[in-house]
Amino acid sequence: MTPFSDLPPARCDVFEAMRSRRSVRAFSSRPVERRVVEQILELAARAPSGTNIQPWRVWALSGRPLRDLTARITAAHAADEPGHAEEYPYYPDQWVDPYLTRRRTLGRELYRLVGIAKGDTEAMKRQHGRNYSFFGAPVGLFITIDRAMNTGSWFDLGTFLQSILLAARGFGLHSCPQQSFSQYHKIIHQDLGIPGDQVIACGVALGYEDETAPENRLETEREPLSAFATFNWTE
Ligand SMILES: Cc1cc2nc3c(=O)[nH]c(=O)nc-3n(C[C@H](O)[C@H](O)[C@H](O)COP(=O)(O)O)c2cc1C
Repeated sequence: MTPFSDLPPARCDVFEAMRSRRSVRAFSSRPVERRVVEQILELAARAPSGTNIQPWRVWALSGRPLRDLTARITAAHAADEPGHAEEYPYYPDQWVDPYLTRRRTLGRELYRLVGIAKGDTEAMKRQHGRNYSFFGAPVGLFITIDRAMNTGSWFDLGTFLQSILLAARGFGLHSCPQQSFSQYHKIIHQDLGIPGDQVIACGVALGYEDETAPENRLETEREPLSAFATFNWTE
């Protein structure tokens, strides 16, 4: 099949895709066809990358392989299984503002919506553990990058990732990017036979939103343009 020859009309235009994309953390069991996932990935692979090296690889799971792997990781998380650690540092060693405040705001809002009281570490752990079932999504992706690549290639991975999330909106699907899987990269490498030269950068949950789930009412804010953009500009 030639890429794009069987693309259906998009369910929304690019502005609406960008506006409506958000991280969904509960999915309906409605399945997603394999061809749809292939089309999303073919579109996303149009993303730019420095000197067009396309440093991304994707491992797509649905059905039994998804259930088996997520059960294994969920069990490791629940049991605080030793020997697991993130494969790369995502967050700073030392949190500073304004990032710390924004991060706390997100956590507070999410826990409020799902009814987790401040300090209820058991419930927080259970909520975090939902990451490892891809929040019930029928499709789970892992995005990996060759260990030989340098920092710059992670830009390329970011453009690719966002393209997946936006293309998903074009099919009426929602998503959640998930760095939390990095913690269990050993299990993922082993279970899927992913070569050791690949770093598990993140997972992506993909599917139809569970519209009844309180966590999906989460609305994240953004700083106004003036807070992050500087214009030196003459007309
Ligand atoms: C690379 C990346 C990794 C992320 N990892 C997780 C994750 O592991 N679990 C999770 O619930 N959300 C994760 N998120 C989602 C962020 O929390 C979310 O994008 C942010 O709060 C803004 O909300 P929005 O996506 O709904 O606009 C991740 C986002 C990105 C871009």
